[in-house]
Amino acid sequence: MARRAVLPLSPALAAWLAKCQWACGSKCFTEPVNPSENPTFENVLAQRLSRRDLLGGAAAVALVLAVGRHESAEASQRGRLTFRPITLNTRDEVTVPEGYASGVVIRWGDPLQSWGPEFRFGEQSPERQAQQFGYNCDFVGLFLLPGGAASGSRGLLAVNHEYTNPELMFPGYREGDPEAWQVAVELEAHGVTIVEVLQRGRGQWHYLPGSSYNRRITGTTRCELTGPAAGSDWMKTSTDSTGTVVYGTLNNCAGGKTPWGTLLTCEENFHQYFGNLSALSSTDPRYTVHQRYGIPSGASERRWERFDRRFDVSKEPNEPFRFGWVVEIDPYDPTFVPKKRTALGRFKHEAATVVIARDGRAVVYSGDDERFEYIYKFVSEGRYNPRDRRANFSLLDSGTLYVARFNADGTGEWLPLVHGQGPLTEANGFRSQADVLVNTRRAADLLGATKMDRPEDIETNPVNGRVYIVCTNNARRKWNQIDPANPRGDNRHGHIIELIENGDAAATRFRWEIFLLCGDPANPDDGVFAAGFDPSLISPISCPDNITFDAWGNMWIATDGQPGTFRRNDGIYAVPTSGNERGFVRMFLSGPRGCEICGPEFAPDFHTLFCAIQHPGEGGTLSAPLSSWPDGTVPRPSVIVVWKDRGDPRIGS
Ligand code: FEO
Ligand code: CA
Ligand code: CA
Repeated sequence: MARRAVLPLSPALAAWLAKCQWACGSKCFTEPVNPSENPTFENVLAQRLSRRDLLGGAAAVALVLAVGRHESAEASQRGRLTFRPITLNTRDEVTVPEGYASGVVIRWGDPLQSWGPEFRFGEQSPERQAQQFGYNCDFVGLFLLPGGAASGSRGLLAVNHEYTNPELMFPGYREGDPEAWQVAVELEAHGVTIVEVLQRGRGQWHYLPGSSYNRRITGTTRCELTGPAAGSDWMKTSTDSTGTVVYGTLNNCAGGKTPWGTLLTCEENFHQYFGNLSALSSTDPRYTVHQRYGIPSGASERRWERFDRRFDVSKEPNEPFRFGWVVEIDPYDPTFVPKKRTALGRFKHEAATVVIARDGRAVVYSGDDERFEYIYKFVSEGRYNPRDRRANFSLLDSGTLYVARFNADGTGEWLPLVHGQGPLTEANGFRSQADVLVNTRRAADLLGATKMDRPEDIETNPVNGRVYIVCTNNARRKWNQIDPANPRGDNRHGHIIELIENGDAAATRFRWEIFLLCGDPANPDDGVFAAGFDPSLISPISCPDNITFDAWGNMWIATDGQPGTFRRNDGIYAVPTSGNERGFVRMFLSGPRGCEICGPEFAPDFHTLFCAIQHPGEGGTLSAPLSSWPDGTVPRPSVIVVWKDRGDPRIGS
């Protein structure tokens, strides 16, 4: 395999490759890209800009500034960002601007019960891990509870645990030859943690061991499949003839919070946990679907199939169909059985952001994070009931799933993925809506959706109502129509799209613009965006992943990939979305070595920024460590808080 070729690996490159291996199962090395003939976003963008536009460096500037710079001076003053930006670095610590401070809230292995079990690196077991904070925290959502010293100072943190780095978890771990107990620990280190947190003073957030809300949902927790694909033949296995009960949720990346107070946790790179696709006949319809989603033909890299037959496609050919969903969990009910909502489609869900349309329908945006995959939204059939929380618990089981097509003239359409409509008929292999939802990618191919550059987070800006789509990167994207003077080259640095629905969130048409082209504005090879500002004042940014917004509509961006592109640590950046500083990027936080930053989440008063430090030390080993964050010992993925320690307590002010 190309990844294992003899290369002089720099620490940064080693970190990059390790990420491919465990985060996504090396999907870009092992998987064919989307084979359909659908247009790429590159095609659309190139058409959008005339040839003349593309000849000068100023074109990209105009592109970035296309929307919003005409807004009033008053708007530009409101929520002005005043912190002094930090710079990219390679330090093994969290760096924040002068006047700010940070602290750890909870680390991998911290006990959720008052009695323990305490973290002991040399004494791990699945039973202990099942009651401790999991590995590689990603999404962070704060759900408020009544009480606390101040409003909004007590709540539940819901945190995803996307994947595991066994080489950093287990001394003596043998890659390709794990032990059964190690695999069992890894299964328990995946999933979700619900944990109560309390603020006892400015920035002093603590988690509460022993809270009755504390809960782990892992790779073995009983979950239910709901919606149109539940109970279909695709979902039935040798242990579940109903096709409705599945154990575990895996590769939970980003997520979302519903207005009715539930968590949406997204199953992303689920393909990597399964092996032996080649045991299926290539004429078996399941083979084609599994191949489209990247199930390995031979052994998986993790080798879990050696110890649990459900991960072996030769034994349980339908088990992979039970992953790749958005999972809804009530964080306030520790007995709640997680629900895999099949109506939202099956793909490598990055995140799920919910908006209520004017008529009360719930709208969920979600991207399929893979090179040349698509952007989706779901519109519920029923309407949100703000007076009866539980009445909303079935809202995500019936509705219409759409996929996005971007037109060259700056408009776009949401194309319905409905069985019997257009090409989604038996002639093309779709006999029911369950078929459409299980094989969402193929259905989207047939509708002519636009291939994107790895859609990661999609979030709505509460101030301007626009939808922002983060495309993290796509180094395989060719730019053979682009003049080198507009040096996007391959899209190593990513970009962010701004989408304006025609009417409201349930609309089937939209307008779009490029909000941000990422890179280093001071590097002519990137030459991406100066946005009319002095390039030396703009912070270099690469590989945007998760975003959130502050009270004034400024976007806060967490990155995943700067060790590979800048040879510097990942971080968090802030950028205004309106006013005279629209597009002016400032670096706010840098993580320790080897990590990505995930899940930025503000407390309701904007005095605290929560975020996840995922996979610190990735790319190193226990014997040659890249990081010892946060304790000076083995690296431990953790959730941290950042606050201002003087002046106006609002972050960014
Ligand atoms: Fe798990 Fe797409 O990042
Ligand atoms: Ca992500
Ligand atoms: Ca990521």
